[in-house]
Amino acid sequence: MAERNGPSFFKVVCRKSLFSFFTITTVLFIMSWFFVLRSADRPQFIDNNMLANSKLFSTLDDSKSQMLKQNVESSFGNREVLDSEDAEQARKTKTPNAKEKVVKFDGRKCHQNDELVIKVYMYDLPPEFHFGLLNWKPSGNSVWPDVRKDIPGYPGGLNLQHSIEFWLTLDILASEFPRASKAKTVIRVQNSSDADIIFVPFFSSLSYNRYSKRKPNEKKNGNKILQEKLVKYLTAQDEWKRSGGKDHLILAHHPNSMLDARMKLWPAAFILSDFGRYPPVIANVEKDVIAPYKHLITSYVDDNSTFDSRPTLLYFQGAIYRKDGGLARQELFYLLKNEKDVHFSFGSIQKDGIKKATEGMRASKFCLNIAGDTPSSNRLFDAIASHCVPVIISDAIELPYEDVIDYSEFCIFVRTMDAIKQNFLINFIRGIGKAEWTRMWNKLKEVEHFFEFHFPSEENDAVQMIWQAVARKVPAMRLKLNRYGRFSRSPPSAEKGLKSIPAPRNFW
Ligand SMILES: *[C@@H]1O[C@H](CO)[C@@H](O)[C@H](O)[C@H]1NC(C)=O
Ligand SMILES: *[C@@H]1O[C@H](CO)[C@@H](O)[C@H](O)[C@H]1NC(C)=O
Repeated sequence: MAERNGPSFFKVVCRKSLFSFFTITTVLFIMSWFFVLRSADRPQFIDNNMLANSKLFSTLDDSKSQMLKQNVESSFGNREVLDSEDAEQARKTKTPNAKEKVVKFDGRKCHQNDELVIKVYMYDLPPEFHFGLLNWKPSGNSVWPDVRKDIPGYPGGLNLQHSIEFWLTLDILASEFPRASKAKTVIRVQNSSDADIIFVPFFSSLSYNRYSKRKPNEKKNGNKILQEKLVKYLTAQDEWKRSGGKDHLILAHHPNSMLDARMKLWPAAFILSDFGRYPPVIANVEKDVIAPYKHLITSYVDDNSTFDSRPTLLYFQGAIYRKDGGLARQELFYLLKNEKDVHFSFGSIQKDGIKKATEGMRASKFCLNIAGDTPSSNRLFDAIASHCVPVIISDAIELPYEDVIDYSEFCIFVRTMDAIKQNFLINFIRGIGKAEWTRMWNKLKEVEHFFEFHFPSEENDAVQMIWQAVARKVPAMRLKLNRYGRFSRSPPSAEKGLKSIPAPRNFW
């Protein structure tokens, strides 16, 4: 190992000093070991990922075999359900192509994520917080509809983007009935002591969409009132007091939902679309879960398109002038407006706009996602459903289940500062050839299922993927909870306001 000049160095050093040199290094070596061992006793920052069962991360390796599509009819043990009239409604809430997807075996045995099952306790909140917002009225004592035959409809249009609250709650309710489907990450428990997660069934996005405008005779808008009631309800529950909310799961997918309550309920985990409007302590990637928007464009079933059959190179549809982070849109418009094979148009996708956008995205190789009012938007999920390779220009975007999905396999990411340089974006996109595009297009078809919402939910659909992401947060929640409870048996502290040990920095 000695270098060329090594021997000459040793020649000039006399034996005696060489001996003392080795003695000193040996002593230093032993001392350094001593310090290493001592420091191992001290509490250290704990990487949450290390806590999670490594099995949890193997899910996607098996994803293909798990992507068996169950026939929706067989998902509930009770077949008559779907024969009844109410089932017509259930059908409407499904994506139109749910039945067209065939059950496909790829030779390997189907494998169920037994290790990912989480027990969920759901508060029996009054219907005004959930299905009551859908004009559903309880019959009898239960505050919940019987999901085997009575599924309230969720309003369509743009409301649907944030409808995860609806799908997740339905899935919890359905977990009490036998299902043929293997899609069951969640099991509802009736005793909160048995639960991994305490679920707060408030349809906050719908509450924002429907009731955030104050009526003339009201002092406060309905959305504010509901949030106040929710905070009052939650903080009075034993479950909340026990944990300080740390094992609670709250839905706030619309970026403006829970605007007031989140400042009081933030120890809980949120399900969000991004962190754009949240201070880091209130919401962060450590404790919260990012869920996809429900796409508005219908899925492209039997997509037989090719690189050459999609005439448009790059497609963008959206409002051009936006406040906040949306400046890049204007810049890009001026950079791209003279390119012949680029479609850049304004106006949000609504009503008749959906049909045009569907045709547009299906006829395009790449679809632009530029940050608007918020870093995220449903456009990304529309692009995925259209198998139009997303080009993401949104530096602060958060992506669903990114701990198990590598988005760079089917999305192009461009930094905003680069995208607005003359010719940068267009040259970059033109440089992506047929082979590379086709690889990404194939990958899009593999992953699209992860972004589809179904009831009853299907294996590895959006509902199950969100629950699995929640399941991966459970070990970290439990750690917080146990730390929080260290002194639960001790007499109250003489020091006022010292309820628990201080949190290590950067921890939550
Ligand atoms: C819930 O479970 C705990 C612990 O197992 C038990 O002590 C308690 O009595 C149970 N509560 C009810 C209402 O069954
Ligand atoms: C795809 O299939 C449709 C209908 O079967 C057909 O009209 C269309 O030309 C096909 N497109 C390509 C690119 O083969």
